[in-house]
Amino acid sequence: MHDVNAMRDVEKSRPLEPGARLGRYELLAQVASGGMGAVWAARTHEDELVALKTILPTDAEKVALRTMFLDEARVAMLLADPNICRVIDLGNDGGTLYMVLEWIEGDSLRTALHEGMPAPSIDVALPICRALCDALEAAHQLRSEDGEPLALVHRDVSPHNVLLGFDGSVKLIDFGIAKTRQRLSETTNSGVLRGKLRYMAPEQVEGSRAVDRRADLWSLGAVLYALVTGVELFGDASEADILRILVMREGLPELPPTVPSAVAAIVQRALAFAPDARFQTARDMRAAIDAVLPPAPDRDRTAIAAFARARLEEPVRARRALIADARRRVASRDALVTSRRRRGQLALAGAFGTVFAVTIAAFAFARSSGTVAATATNAVVVAPEEGAAAKGAGSDPRVSPPPRIPAGAPVTSAAATNAPVASVAPANAASGTRSHAVMKKGAPKKPARTGGLGAEFDTHD
Ligand SMILES: Nc1ncnc2c1ncn2[C@@H]1O[C@H](COP(=O)(O)OP(=O)(O)OP(=O)(O)O)[C@@H](O)[C@H]1O
Ligand SMILES: [Mg+2]
Repeated sequence: MHDVNAMRDVEKSRPLEPGARLGRYELLAQVASGGMGAVWAARTHEDELVALKTILPTDAEKVALRTMFLDEARVAMLLADPNICRVIDLGNDGGTLYMVLEWIEGDSLRTALHEGMPAPSIDVALPICRALCDALEAAHQLRSEDGEPLALVHRDVSPHNVLLGFDGSVKLIDFGIAKTRQRLSETTNSGVLRGKLRYMAPEQVEGSRAVDRRADLWSLGAVLYALVTGVELFGDASEADILRILVMREGLPELPPTVPSAVAAIVQRALAFAPDARFQTARDMRAAIDAVLPPAPDRDRTAIAAFARARLEEPVRARRALIADARRRVASRDALVTSRRRRGQLALAGAFGTVFAVTIAAFAFARSSGTVAATATNAVVVAPEEGAAAKGAGSDPRVSPPPRIPAGAPVTSAAATNAPVASVAPANAASGTRSHAVMKKGAPKKPARTGGLGAEFDTHD
């Protein structure tokens, strides 16, 4: 049933653009596009910035994967650790699956380690790795609401999935996506996995069912390798060569002698081919790091913040400008929509006013026409004495007798149904004529005003 709904949703999916809404979020600017979708800067009703990750709705074959993504992402929402990017929400809007994350003012470790840049100092590298140990420990220990261990494995720990905040925060992202992505690459052969080979444990590359938390510790070893050397594990080896090393379990690159031996020992242990020879838990790995560089939260945070600012200032400034521009464009679009709506409402009010005025005019015209008809008829048939009486009555309408309307004479509904009006008419024929003339003069004025408003409405719509 779930799948059928998801399939229907796939068919309904639509392109996204700034200003579009997904659930209660308004998209502002697309900041990245990844293997499975895009990352948007978006905002809530309260104007809080969030990161919204969409999952590409592709074709019906992938419906099961979409369901799997939702199931796993729900597990990710249970994670609450300062070193894991918080998943705030999860949704499916018209076929577009999305995940909402707390917004991190910073960028990825991958961007911070871009080619050609020197390796950060140990004072930065080890605290980043320490924070990631804490993130993994929290994930690996996660239990269901019933207290059952969930045996959660990230499967994609890499610099792409580590965000560094300008405030010195370190956030692991993309829990729950890796498994889905792996299935996706199996079904599409799209090579989504290939870029991640440098961070994958050998048993994971082989597709072993026995992948457990220790695969994440291999990946963290590869991240630490990149942090302390400034280059990725395997350097510029081809994918075929990397695969051969991982499958044969020999030929892992040596660490350069510039890396302190105590740090090199941590990297080597994390990158042991046999899972049993690695750190068995993230907590063990953290203890090894603490032994080399004792934790000092303020110092560590300051060191990471300085590194993030030095390496990421340019992309973050560009992203801020993109978001500010999107905010402006969305605001001016909203203003235009509001003004169109207001003009539309005014035009509608004008149209109603006109209809009302025309109705009144027609009503009054009918009344006065009836009066005239009755008056004209009376003028012909009124007997001299009645005329005198009527004349006298004219000076006092309260005592005027009802007019006599002969059979066959043209009688308006006003005259027929409103005898008191007709009753004053004979003595007040001039006034009846005047009121008729006023109506005649006034009537064309109203449509002319309506035309003006209508013209405005047309122009702007
Ligand atoms: N919570 C967030 N706050 C701010 N920026 C974010 C957030 N999440 C992701 N980003 C930005 O989006 C970029 C891409 O993230 P994403 O996870 O989609 O990329 P990826 O890991 O390279 O690709 P994929 O996960 O699809 O393989 C990140 O490098 C970062 O710049
Ligand atoms: Mg990612």
